[in-house]
Amino acid sequence: MPWIRIPGLGPANSWENGKIKRTQIKGKQLIVVKFNDRFHALPARCPHAGGPLDAGWCTEEGAVVCPWHRYEFDLCTGKNITGEGYNVQRYEVELRENGFFIEWPEKKWWDFW
Ligand code: FES
Repeated sequence: MPWIRIPGLGPANSWENGKIKRTQIKGKQLIVVKFNDRFHALPARCPHAGGPLDAGWCTEEGAVVCPWHRYEFDLCTGKNITGEGYNVQRYEVELRENGFFIEWPEKKWWDFW
């Protein structure tokens, strides 16, 4: 899968643990989250009712919490760990010398919509 540079995330030293930032890749709104020195990306809108995950927060266990109804999504898998059944796509993110990069899937069903 190709890696794409993520614009607008600022310098690496501006990221404290648990920080969440919104970004856009290929027209899709995503959040990038730093947790335990790793970076993760998930969709910015909660799959339940569209809550803004960038207005949520990160738990000590490594999940992002939606601010609207508090469903939680595992940063490493995208799984809805509070059990409501709303799993999300999870993307790998790397911090390199020349910036942040996301591993972008070649083609998924939503690319055709
Ligand atoms: S909109 Fe996110 S939990 Fe309901």
